[in-house]
Amino acid sequence: MIATAVVTAPPLATWRERADAVLARALDGLDGTEPRLLAAMRHAVLLGGKRMRPMLVYAAGTACGASEDALDAPAAAVELIHAYSLVHDDLPAMDNDALRRGQPTVHVAFDEATAILAGDALQALAFSTLAASSLPAGRVVAMLAELASASGAAGMCGGQAFDLAATGQASSTSLPALEHLHALKTGALLRAAVRLGAIAAGADDATRTRLDDFADALGLGFQVRDDLLDIEGDSATLGKTAGKDVAQDKATFPALIGVDASRARLQALAARMQEALAACPGDTTALLQLGRLAVERDR
Ligand code: IPE
Ligand code: IPE
Ligand code: MG
Ligand code: MG
Ligand code: MG
Repeated sequence: MIATAVVTAPPLATWRERADAVLARALDGLDGTEPRLLAAMRHAVLLGGKRMRPMLVYAAGTACGASEDALDAPAAAVELIHAYSLVHDDLPAMDNDALRRGQPTVHVAFDEATAILAGDALQALAFSTLAASSLPAGRVVAMLAELASASGAAGMCGGQAFDLAATGQASSTSLPALEHLHALKTGALLRAAVRLGAIAAGADDATRTRLDDFADALGLGFQVRDDLLDIEGDSATLGKTAGKDVAQDKATFPALIGVDASRARLQALAARMQEALAACPGDTTALLQLGRLAVERDR
């Protein structure tokens, strides 16, 4: 009898739906919260989004042997931090955006003070959701520490500060400075998503190093693609206003090295991701697919 290889597509859609359900449950647990604040938090989290970070948690975690149940808390936690970062990123004091995930931004749909508080409360919810994980305490503490450092001054917040400092000075920003800015503002949280999966699974150091290589390339590629989409995309598909980076003289890859060189950079990063995963044990098909999505997506 000839064995037939069954090639199954990675369960990305299943993980996206699973993340939606876990996030909805986390917000349902906030019954009794001041209604306007809770409505703003629900608006920020439940109305769309690609769920790239939760999918990375599931993909990295299952590749390293964790069950999906064990990955629900970290998957929700990293998306809650991401949602908070978007609410604050859109504020008038930052990028001043009116459209997000095809909806009015939180400060437009509600008001600025509510948007600030909703972001703050989503950040707290991320950590309480992760702290409630039923994994062994040592792994939970390691995940909390990872998420905290990826979100804070050495990660996303620090990157946002570099981004604001470079706004209006795109032409005088150096390429290494821009790479560092991107690695912090976007890369840190994407890498944390991969790391949380690996920590939840108890992956060994060698595997974690290879996953870090993959995640570093994915993180930079994700933001370079975001920069390109600001120029090449349309607002309806993106669900956010195209052309804002150019209008605000943001330090972006296309602004610094041009569109063609940015595209070439994406190809190089895709090759790096593939190389890193080739050296990884376990089934990395889903991670590879997410890596490709990061650099090829149109929204
Ligand atoms: C947008 O992130 C902000 C960046 C870090 C570039 P996403 O493109 O993942 O946004 P959603 O979650 O799908 O809305
Ligand atoms: C935002 O980068 C990254 C974070 C929210 C931390 P951008 O400002 O480029 O994201 P978009 O384009 O508004 O989604
Ligand atoms: Mg921004
Ligand atoms: Mg923005
Ligand atoms: Mg952008």
